[in-house]
Amino acid sequence: MPTAIKTENLTKTYRTRSGSVNVVDNLNIEVEEGEIYGFLGPNGAGKTSTIKMLLGISYPSSGQAWLLGKEVGDMEIHRKISYLPEKPYYYEHMTGMEILNFYAKLFNIGPAERAAKATALLEKVNLASDGAKTISQYSKGMQQRIGLAQSLLNDPVLLFLDEPTAGLDPIAHVEIRDLILQMRDEGKTVFISSHELSDVERICDRVAILNKGKVEQQGKLDDLLKGGRIEIQAEGVPDGAVDSLRTDGVIVSNHGGRLIIDAPDSAGSDGFLDAIRTAGGRVISVIPRRKRLEDLFVETVTRATERIKREDAR
Ligand SMILES: Nc1ncnc2c1ncn2[C@@H]1O[C@H](COP(=O)(O)OP(=O)(O)O)[C@@H](O)[C@H]1O
Ligand SMILES: [Mg+2]
Repeated sequence: MPTAIKTENLTKTYRTRSGSVNVVDNLNIEVEEGEIYGFLGPNGAGKTSTIKMLLGISYPSSGQAWLLGKEVGDMEIHRKISYLPEKPYYYEHMTGMEILNFYAKLFNIGPAERAAKATALLEKVNLASDGAKTISQYSKGMQQRIGLAQSLLNDPVLLFLDEPTAGLDPIAHVEIRDLILQMRDEGKTVFISSHELSDVERICDRVAILNKGKVEQQGKLDDLLKGGRIEIQAEGVPDGAVDSLRTDGVIVSNHGGRLIIDAPDSAGSDGFLDAIRTAGGRVISVIPRRKRLEDLFVETVTRATERIKREDAR
């Protein structure tokens, strides 16, 4: 699989009053073509700083990065990528249609194609009947959708979306997620920075968790969330047999005669099923549960924060 984004020890250092700080610290990531990549981290982790270096808006203090196989800064790739900033700024008095026309003009798209493209993109982001409304009449979700339409004007193969769902209502989250999935279906690579973990969990193929400029965790989401827990539900297990099910890390709860056994994956289900049946109980369901991204995120950031504290104390 060809690589859409690659960084090698990419670093951004800012001078501060007390010295200097690496807001992006020796970043090594690889994003494959055609995937949705989630770049996660708490506020201030360095997500936007990384995107700006990848786009050539700011220069790395050290290290290197490549987009679509070309070193960052290569003008040829700029035609193939696009960027939706964290807080896109639009002229409030312009209509959705005017915005798209305005940006299409910047991309040197001719008048006829411009109009056709703007119409098609309005349709794509479900704003076909809102093209004549001004941005000031748009909800936040609509503004974000016009932003996505704008970012598609140049038919990019690689998109950078910085916090695309931050501050949106639940319906708008779904709309944006669907649009991003559609982009992947069209073969585009999408790099999303976000701390909206449920969005990321639903759509990303691969993630990196960034904390204080350092990647603390990265990989395929499926792999990272493996090794979760299993939930077994059973009925008719006599009270006397319930205690024997409570081994290390196993939570057993009784809901009006229905037992719910919540066990780590590593415990396996066979032992529980045997014990339930031997005791004369009936197994109702066995459900493997993935770890939740939120748990992985909190674990990762907490562990990193404690490590940094220990390092600072030395
Ligand atoms: N121009 C700058 N000068 C000094 N520090 C900066 C500058 N831009 C960003 N930072 C700092 O870099 C860190 C990372 O910021 P940013 O990349 O915006 O984080 P994120 O997007 O993950 O919230 C923050 O601590 C921020 O204050
Ligand atoms: Mg940011």
